[in-house]
Amino acid sequence: MKQTTKKNSARVDAREKVRGQTRFIDDIPVYGMLEAATVRSPVCHGKIKEFKNIDKIKKMPGVRAVVSAADIPGENCVPFVKNDYPCLAGVGEDVKFYGQAVSLVAADTRQQAQRAARAAELLIEEYPAVYDPVEAMTPDAVYIGGEDNIHSSFRIRKGNVDKGFKEADIIVEKVYTTAHQVHCYLENQGITAVPGPSSSVIVSGSMQCPFYVHNALVRVLGLPYSKVRVIQTPTGGGFGGKEDMPSILAAHAALLALKTGRPVRLVYDREEDFHSMSKRHPSRTRIKYGASSDGKITACQAEYIVNGGAYCTLSPIVAWRGLVHVAGPYDIANVMVDSYAMATNTVPCGALRGFGQPQVNFANESLIDELAEKLDMDPVELRRKNLLKTGSQTATGQVVGESCGMEESLQKALQRSSFKLHRGSDKGTLKKGMGISTTFYGVGLGAEGKYFAKAGAQVYVKEDGSVVVAVGNVEMGQGALTVFNRICADTLGCSYDMVEILEPDTTRVPDSGPTVASRATMVGGRAVMDAASRIRDILKRAAAVKLGTDENRVEIKGGKYCSPDGEMDYVDVVNEAYRTRQQVAAQGWYTVKDVSFDPETGMGNSYPVYTFSTNIAEVEVDTETGQVRVSSFTAAHDIGKAIHYPSAEGQIHGGTVQAIGYALYENLVLENGKIINPSFTGYTIPTSLDVPDVDAIIVESPYSEGPFGAKGLGEPPMVGPAAAIMNAVYDACGVRIRKTPGLPEDILEGLKKASVES
Ligand code: MTE
Ligand code: MOS
Repeated sequence: MKQTTKKNSARVDAREKVRGQTRFIDDIPVYGMLEAATVRSPVCHGKIKEFKNIDKIKKMPGVRAVVSAADIPGENCVPFVKNDYPCLAGVGEDVKFYGQAVSLVAADTRQQAQRAARAAELLIEEYPAVYDPVEAMTPDAVYIGGEDNIHSSFRIRKGNVDKGFKEADIIVEKVYTTAHQVHCYLENQGITAVPGPSSSVIVSGSMQCPFYVHNALVRVLGLPYSKVRVIQTPTGGGFGGKEDMPSILAAHAALLALKTGRPVRLVYDREEDFHSMSKRHPSRTRIKYGASSDGKITACQAEYIVNGGAYCTLSPIVAWRGLVHVAGPYDIANVMVDSYAMATNTVPCGALRGFGQPQVNFANESLIDELAEKLDMDPVELRRKNLLKTGSQTATGQVVGESCGMEESLQKALQRSSFKLHRGSDKGTLKKGMGISTTFYGVGLGAEGKYFAKAGAQVYVKEDGSVVVAVGNVEMGQGALTVFNRICADTLGCSYDMVEILEPDTTRVPDSGPTVASRATMVGGRAVMDAASRIRDILKRAAAVKLGTDENRVEIKGGKYCSPDGEMDYVDVVNEAYRTRQQVAAQGWYTVKDVSFDPETGMGNSYPVYTFSTNIAEVEVDTETGQVRVSSFTAAHDIGKAIHYPSAEGQIHGGTVQAIGYALYENLVLENGKIINPSFTGYTIPTSLDVPDVDAIIVESPYSEGPFGAKGLGEPPMVGPAAAIMNAVYDACGVRIRKTPGLPEDILEGLKKASVES
């Protein structure tokens, strides 16, 4: 398949977004609309005895309705992987984290609703609480949820690790921890629910997964799927935080809309969003590598524990992705891994760009550098000896097939960054260092989510040749609209400005799974391509009849349908198809190649395909202040094929910046389970002053199943940088940071210890 995409054409949504013309849910009022607010738990663990002043709240200015658990017509449950998350915690029921939703208020204005919600008085019997996942594992810990406080656990048993460690000349074992990370999407969560015709409800808003929202509404409202319609509005960033969470807001807004018979909008403010919405799982990884003196890794053992928070939500997926990837992008014969997602009385954690992989990659890519030092070997050489290549086996025994650009990504990154170790050679107080990390990333949902691994699309070619495309996967900033536009236009042979991508709407396309796991291009893109190809074949036939040739001899070139017997412009072919009453509308579908996982051994083909990446960081450490500045960064990603180069580069830039924040700045502080810095004032993310020019290198090792060879890119740039940065810090000043974020005080403490030791 050849592609004609012009390298530097603008994104389809760029102009409106940079001009501020895009309308997000908070910019879209509906006639007669009420605004909603949420009554939340002021404690981390307890039983709700009474909503003391509910009658008074109902009479407050502007208040039109108060809804509690008893008003839910369907099930009091927002379904995620397990069904433990209550839509609202009712009287007589438990609350398990600070900020959990208890009741809802609808009022004429948002201020009135918020005032009423804040005035609510709940009588709560407080229980003891647990905030630490390792403490939650102890036998006498307070029970919170799951089985013995385990939301979910997985294991890998490959080969024989005891034998593998016996064969090793050197063994290294360390513990690495990571903190919460916040999505920091610019647009907070927001949903509007409107009562529709014949007892239906129409819900629209900021979201990644309209079909998840659809499921949740059906469950909570007790309505058939056909009475619920979900539409995605322009979404100002998701990063995983709008995978599952919008289902909660949608259920809440819809309950109020059905109760009042009026449209209801529910938009969170930043602080409320911080307290109640999902976060990246904090983690503790104990990991051990054994290697022979020539650098061959003989065994890997790891235990990966994540803090899932009060309810299970997406924790199993995070624990599973971590499990599959924690041994690193290496071919290791003996692997033993246990991963656990634990329940604690903290905000439930969920999806955030990388889904459990940034945590484990920080561990394994730091440890491999520690191993290299023990072996007295160059860290690049050690990696090269063990890296996955075509034909080698992953930790789950999957044989790496086509599309493995690991070596190419390594080579290009090394060359472009002029990688070399400094080993503390700077004399002054400002010390430079360089560090590397390598990663692999399973694209799509993998064996744990294979039920959702499908997508649909509809393509309609109109009389003038312009095209309307309905898809089930969403734009949230990553560039999906442009990717779908290019795939459709390049398949049909029309110009990009002729193709419109409609907003996802559950009444227009079949359930296409979620827009997560970097799957939109590979899976949604294939569905668009499937639909467009069906129409292209019809157009080819119409052209062939008109040109008096065989349809197999018609080729699309530069916007024309060409054959040895003559050629026609695309628009003329469309006219001909209309004149001869052809069906120039089609449904497309794609089902992802089968994957597998054996829960006993962890063996199986976990993901259909992987992306491969190399990250190289250069840092400057100020040994007087402990401050680390990333002075330059090189990231090379094998993504199969870039459908739209500027968007692909943008993803690499953005993901790297988010990862720099993760490594060095982002520090969510919880005291007794409550977040004490729930704002952009207290929770620091990188600004343009803190980030270097990121040299983005795109490696294209095509995947035959992907559209034009494409795999996925959205998350990989977030996975590897933390380890590369900490390895660079070590190279600069000899301080090994085994936690994120690595704050100035951590560096200073490390320097102090190093000087005591020497
Ligand atoms: N880029 C922007 N600008 N905004 C986002 O919300 N989400 C990330 C990534 N890049 C995100 C983003 C996450 S978490 C995922 S899973 C992918 O985009 C999803 O998009 P894709 O499937 O098109 O790669
Ligand atoms: Mo991305 S965390 O898979 O939404």
